[in-house]
Amino acid sequence: MRDATEPRPSPEALVDLAAYPIDRPETARALVERCRAQLAADGACELPGFVTARAVARMVADADTLAPIAHHAEGPITIYLDVADPSLPEDHPRRWLGRSSLAAVAYDLIPPAHALRVLFEWDPLMDFLATVLGHARLYRYADPFGALNVAVMRDGDELAWHFDQTDFVVSIALRDAEEGGDFEYAPCLRSADDERYGDVRKVLDGDPSRVRRVPMTPGTLLLFQGRHALHRVTPIRGATSRLVALLAYDTKPGTVSSDFLRLARYGRNVAVDA
Ligand SMILES: [Fe+2]
Repeated sequence: MRDATEPRPSPEALVDLAAYPIDRPETARALVERCRAQLAADGACELPGFVTARAVARMVADADTLAPIAHHAEGPITIYLDVADPSLPEDHPRRWLGRSSLAAVAYDLIPPAHALRVLFEWDPLMDFLATVLGHARLYRYADPFGALNVAVMRDGDELAWHFDQTDFVVSIALRDAEEGGDFEYAPCLRSADDERYGDVRKVLDGDPSRVRRVPMTPGTLLLFQGRHALHRVTPIRGATSRLVALLAYDTKPGTVSSDFLRLARYGRNVAVDA
């Protein structure tokens, strides 16, 4: 257990600023262009070694102390994160059900001195992400539970194929599982005006030709656009839990989750002024 009186780390000490000079926008121009090119090509941008090895070790130790209070949620999901439509043929992608099983530590349970929280609350990171995504600015997600999460996946957990309902997600890999826990995605599988059910069906049936795998390397920051890319986390095996931090932002201020989603994901609720 860490000493609760340990001071807040400086955010600059958590990031490899020599490789990723996000605190100096003038110097980061080439980096921004590289990230934009990656996003345009396949909807994902990986920054390996973004968080220093020393900071990752601290984040893992802190996450392990929080893991016992993570809320575990499990249930069937459709790939569209909605309700399956029984009027469609049985093999239609809108009737496909997968399994979601994972635990999450909510934002309000993460202490202010936790290195992950320090990084999330550091404006240069948010401003850098806004620049890469082409927004004038971003806002930290205002939900008291959903703004920052540590996703804890243990033996038998998995996250089935789905499309996100948000434009982008930012994750930081902290610890890999002994087996499984791979992040797989099929970039640009659908578009805003074409669901391409035939291509979706092929991925669900196990066709690997469109599927890419992102190695789970601790310290990697992944900026992922999941609205049009089908993606999943393969089943975890072994005694070591897989730890990933999820940092949530929005293009509008004051955005929060619904009561329904909060209860499903965190097992409790809170009054929020929306
Ligand atoms: Fe997702």
